[in-house]
Amino acid sequence: MKKDFLCLTDWSLEDLEKLFALAADLKAKRKRGEEHHLLKGKTLGMLFEKSSTRTRVSFEVGMYQLGGHALFLSSGTTQMGRGEPIKDTGRVMSRYVDGIMIRTFSQEGVEELAKWSDIPIINGLTDMYHPCQVMADLLTVIEHKKNYRDLTYCWIGDGNNMANSWINAAAIFGFELRIATPEGYEPHPQVVARARKLGARVTYVNDPMEAARGADVLNTDVWASMGQEEEQAKRTAAFAGFQINADIIAAADPACILMHCLPAHRGEEITDEAIESSHSVVFDEAENRLHIQKAIMATLMT
Ligand code: CP
Ligand code: NVA
Repeated sequence: MKKDFLCLTDWSLEDLEKLFALAADLKAKRKRGEEHHLLKGKTLGMLFEKSSTRTRVSFEVGMYQLGGHALFLSSGTTQMGRGEPIKDTGRVMSRYVDGIMIRTFSQEGVEELAKWSDIPIINGLTDMYHPCQVMADLLTVIEHKKNYRDLTYCWIGDGNNMANSWINAAAIFGFELRIATPEGYEPHPQVVARARKLGARVTYVNDPMEAARGADVLNTDVWASMGQEEEQAKRTAAFAGFQINADIIAAADPACILMHCLPAHRGEEITDEAIESSHSVVFDEAENRLHIQKAIMATLMT
């Protein structure tokens, strides 16, 4: 039976750990210049209903490095943008390509696509989740901190798709996650409830300084995600005080690492000084999108 990558909690801890191991192996092979054509002759369709730099480039380059090919399909230039139902798109694409990566608004839309497709579907970001990014981030934590389970993670900012995905990760991997968001911008309550049912150690801490105290990993993201552009002014006011800056870093563990999925709005959720500091691992995270997604594609599409 085909398998999809839609949400971290659909996967077992054991299978996710295999992805980290395969990603590390593929990364090493790439660095040594060794061929690793695990998807020779295969094609990935990439459906985009939102903008992207990292996701598009890393999936496309990743397919090439695996000996395959990727097709960029945007909603504006396909029949998707003119209202062709997702269940038809899924069935048609299944006749041409070997897997689909989709970036869109609704998680239900991605689930619908998976239901109607005979090929693996990979979630490249929805309003609800960004699972590939969190896997790349955890690969980065493993590289910098050796282990990733016995650490304290701190999320400061919006309770958005990235926050929801970190909560799922806390549920599966078992680490402690502290979340500081302004009131009214908490992560999705159903995601939190499900994670807690699974035993996740997720706590809300109102004060960002308190949330950061002694933390090993600091994490944030933009205050207005794609699709929320018109709320920017309101959000900028609401999120005052929820910025990652030198004071927050000083409150964390002296060896803390600082993460951001990018793109960043310097001067808003993070200062230029913080993102350029020695704690920042943001470009390693961006690179690891390539390696973890190659592992995800190689696992699902062979
Ligand atoms: N982090 C991330 O998904 O970046 P893009 O929006 O550039 O793909
Ligand atoms: N939360 C952001 C992440 C971008 C990679 C967004 O959805 O726009």
